[in-house]
Amino acid sequence: MSAELNGSRPAAAAPNTGQIRAHVTGWGRYVPSRVLTNKDLERLVDTSDEWITTRTGIRERRVAAASETTASMAAVASLRAIRTAGLDPDDIDLILLGTLTPDYWMPSTAALVKEAIGNTRAAAMDVSAACSGFVYGFATAQAWIASGLAKHVLVIGAELLTRFLDYTDRSTCILFGDGAGAVVLSASDQPGGALGIELTTEPQGAYMIWLPAGGAKSPPSAKTIARGEHYIRMEGKETYRFATKTMATTALESVRKSGLEPKDVALFIPHQANVRIIEAVAKGLNLPMDRMYTNVQKYGNTSAASVPIALAEAVNEGRLRVGDNVCIVAFGAGFTSGAVTIEWTADPARGIAGDAAVDPRDVHVRLPIDWDSVDPIPPALAELMARPSEVNPPLDDVVPGEPEPASHPVAR
Ligand code: UT7
Repeated sequence: MSAELNGSRPAAAAPNTGQIRAHVTGWGRYVPSRVLTNKDLERLVDTSDEWITTRTGIRERRVAAASETTASMAAVASLRAIRTAGLDPDDIDLILLGTLTPDYWMPSTAALVKEAIGNTRAAAMDVSAACSGFVYGFATAQAWIASGLAKHVLVIGAELLTRFLDYTDRSTCILFGDGAGAVVLSASDQPGGALGIELTTEPQGAYMIWLPAGGAKSPPSAKTIARGEHYIRMEGKETYRFATKTMATTALESVRKSGLEPKDVALFIPHQANVRIIEAVAKGLNLPMDRMYTNVQKYGNTSAASVPIALAEAVNEGRLRVGDNVCIVAFGAGFTSGAVTIEWTADPARGIAGDAAVDPRDVHVRLPIDWDSVDPIPPALAELMARPSEVNPPLDDVVPGEPEPASHPVAR
């Protein structure tokens, strides 16, 4: 596969034309139990439940406990996906983990997950493509399988974003939440599975969503922390503009490379950043909103985790049947975007049992000896969580707000 480098039309991955196809055989998700509502956030920054709900569709998000990490959430989702697939962890040949919030700079979070799930054989690496990380990982897994390099690939999206937010910045701290999702892709000579793939990278958007400090350009120091450069920064409007334009175009490319039209796709699973963006995608594809799966109201934006969490929930809720076409599509920092159209071939009923078979309390990520990390929860968030809101608004009446017209309608 290749990506666009200089702003020209993206060069995309070729569809799977070989004999070996990559089928989704397992799926699983994990979200922390702690809920942070819009009402809770009203006590922290100058915002309102009404503003957040109408501008984003988000009603609440999940916050990881101090004992949880990106790896621990990823490991639970992964074991659930592996159980759903009816496999043993050691059947996995490759682990790809999309994240922008790894446990450490090194080793990769994928390596920690490999150990936590009890796999002894797989190659493991992280995929850095921000919110598109899971879709990029999925496309990479397809290529490994189609080339015969791997038989079973575990693809994970996992994020712990609530530790990288500035809780004085109302434009970002209300958007994000924590969680993990995973799928198993398995080689098969049967038709179906991953079809057309489209991946793009447009670096002119590189500083529209970024985390300035901590890397080689600006290593962590008291100065970078005093400047708040260890928090996520975002130009919301520019990002919104990119997303509404690119998501529909990327999805359409993927669908067409599959020899299909949007109307042939039973369900789109878009990145869950803002329900207005998802409405613009529906509009761009000339489809009704019931073809778009949404759960942003429950979890906010979980970056690379949003697509696999949404996919697992959609399947478990009976939204997909064997033979349906489904298109996963994401966008994120970079700017990156990616879409894969899939012919669904797995028995949807398997997912519920896979979830039930894995108790998060039984899953452990090994910690280093003789090292105590500091309390990972940002103080403002810790204080808020210590005083939970008594108001828990029902989630069955989400008010998504009026869709913005797609600023660049899909034109071919
Ligand atoms: O995974 C990719 C990550 N990022 C995204 O997907 C984000 C894409 N962008 C968006 O979803 C939207 O741009 C936002 C939800 C971030 C913002 O919505 P918007 O409709 O573009 O609002 P805005 O930034 O234009 O702000 C409108 C007003 C401003 O006030 P003034 O200048 O008009 O007086 C903001 O200061 O809303 C104000 N505002 C808020 N008010 C209450 C911004 N954040 C908040 C807030 N509560 N949390």
